[in-house]
Order: sequence, then structure tokens, then C-alpha cells
Amino acid sequence: MSTNIRPARVDDLMGMQACNLRNLPENYTMRYYLYHLMTWPSLSYVAEDSKGRIVGYVLAKMEEDVGPDDEPHGHLTSISVLRSYRRLGLAKKLMIQSQEAMAAVYKAPYVALHVRKSNRPALSLYRDTLQFSVQDIEKKYYADGEDAYSMRLSLKP
Ligand SMILES: CC(C)(COP(=O)(O)OP(=O)(O)OC[C@H]1O[C@@H](n2cnc3c(N)ncnc32)[C@H](O)[C@@H]1OP(=O)(O)O)[C@@H](O)C(=O)NCCC(=O)NCCS
Repeated sequence: MSTNIRPARVDDLMGMQACNLRNLPENYTMRYYLYHLMTWPSLSYVAEDSKGRIVGYVLAKMEEDVGPDDEPHGHLTSISVLRSYRRLGLAKKLMIQSQEAMAAVYKAPYVALHVRKSNRPALSLYRDTLQFSVQDIEKKYYADGEDAYSMRLSLKP
């Protein structure tokens, strides 16, 4: 299965949203996807198959509106890969592309994300493969009441 990873474009948004709807209960309006691409065009990426179909994406942004004790940083909004394309390293590659752009383009000191406590594949991707660490547990973070781990990875060299 040959796949290609490249920066997301506006004409990918429908494919990204379709991929999100098939994979995750956290869904977003088209306006929110567009906002990411228009504001931080270098931070979101897609994986496409040989026919140009979107089989995975990472949607990311900069968190710029931070309190006095924090600094602007990268934030992973959403990532997913279609079931038949999993365990091929696509999510790892998508994450690394986005993280590199956060550091290079926006000088982000770190990237943050939330993940469901029960999401073992995603937790393993973040903690074991990408070396994120757990910062905190946010109780009932998700709409269905599940707790989230809030995780961080330093992007400083
Ligand atoms: C989580 C998800 C994005 C991983 O995508 P993927 O392309 O299969 O991940 P990769 O192939 O890049 O895997 C990289 C590493 O993550 C970990 N991992 C991925 N899937 C795993 C699984 N099912 N079980 C355990 N570890 C897993 C492994 O450490 C893996 O490295 P390895 O294959 O060398 O062992 C994918 O399972 C998915 O789309 N899940 C549904 C959506 C979701 O939960 N998104 C995250 C929301 S926070």
C-alpha cells in the first residue's frame, strides 16, 4: 500500500473530516478545520493513498492565547488513520512532520495534547514512540465523562 505524506490543503478538508468521522467521537465543524489550515498552514498534514484518497491526517495549531505562566506552544487537535492503514508508521510520520514545523516555523518550545485514558494505541504512540510525558490528568475532560491525560513533548533541541 503506497502512501504519501504532504501538507494538508483546503481541498483535502472533506477527506480529513470523513476520516475523522470514521475514527473518533470528537468531531469538528468544517469551519474549525478551515481555521486551522488558514491560520497555521504548515502544521496539518495528510497521508494519501496512490489514488489521492485521504487515509490519515494530523490537525494541529499553535496555542497562542496563554496565561502569564505559560508560553505559546504547539497543540495537537486531532490525528487519525483509517483502520486498514494502521501500524504502518503513518501516525508517527504525521506527528513528526507537524512537530518539526511547530519548532521550525513558530519556535514552539513544546507540543501539548489530550488523550483518553483508555486509548492504548494512541497512548503508546505518544508515550513510547514519540516520548511525550504525562503532565496531568483532567477529570471528565471528554463529553462522555472519560478522563484525559494531558501530555507534553519538549521541542527544544
Ligand atoms: C492512534 C492511531 C492514530 C495510530 O495510528 P498508526 O498509523 O496505526 O500508528 P503508527 O503505525 O505510526 O504507530 C506508531 C507506534 O504507536 C504505537 N501503536 C500504534 N497502534 C497501536 C496499537 N494498536 N497498540 C499498541 N500500540 C500501538 C506503537 O508503539 C507503534 O509503533 P510500532 O508499530 O513500531 O510498535 C490510530 O490507531 C487511530 O487512528 N486510532 C483512532 C483515532 C485515535 O484514537 N486518535 C488519537 C486521538 S488522541
